[in-house]
Amino acid sequence: ESSTEIDISAIQPGQAIKAVFRKQPVFVRNLTPKEISEAEAVDVSSLRDPQTLKERTKAGKENWLITMGVCTHLGCVPLGAGEGEVKGEFGGYFCPCHGSVYDTAARIRKGPAPKNLQVPEYAFTTDTVVKIG
Ligand code: FES
Repeated sequence: ESSTEIDISAIQPGQAIKAVFRKQPVFVRNLTPKEISEAEAVDVSSLRDPQTLKERTKAGKENWLITMGVCTHLGCVPLGAGEGEVKGEFGGYFCPCHGSVYDTAARIRKGPAPKNLQVPEYAFTTDTVVKIG
């Protein structure tokens, strides 16, 4: 089982990058304060896969949203990490295969996907390096 270290120092607020973890895409996103507020304002009980932003991030680092870049419907790679403004109507990610829409916490909001984008196991080894796996 291999892990992946990612330097996050160049990822500006509002940006997301796509990396590779165990041959699958992983998204690392630096949420803006507005995106964090939007994620926290959602009534979690209304969600298909109810989770708060806090449950999907590390304490004190709620701006760093780290998820697999694999749609939970049939496994396509959603858009929104590295394609500029292609984030879909909930500001997170958009899967072009069958139209699943994820919000700024990468939670499923619309379309056929049953689950939020999966949060892998990870830890911050320094303020600017994340070790995934
Ligand atoms: Fe993403 Fe079907 S694989 S919506």
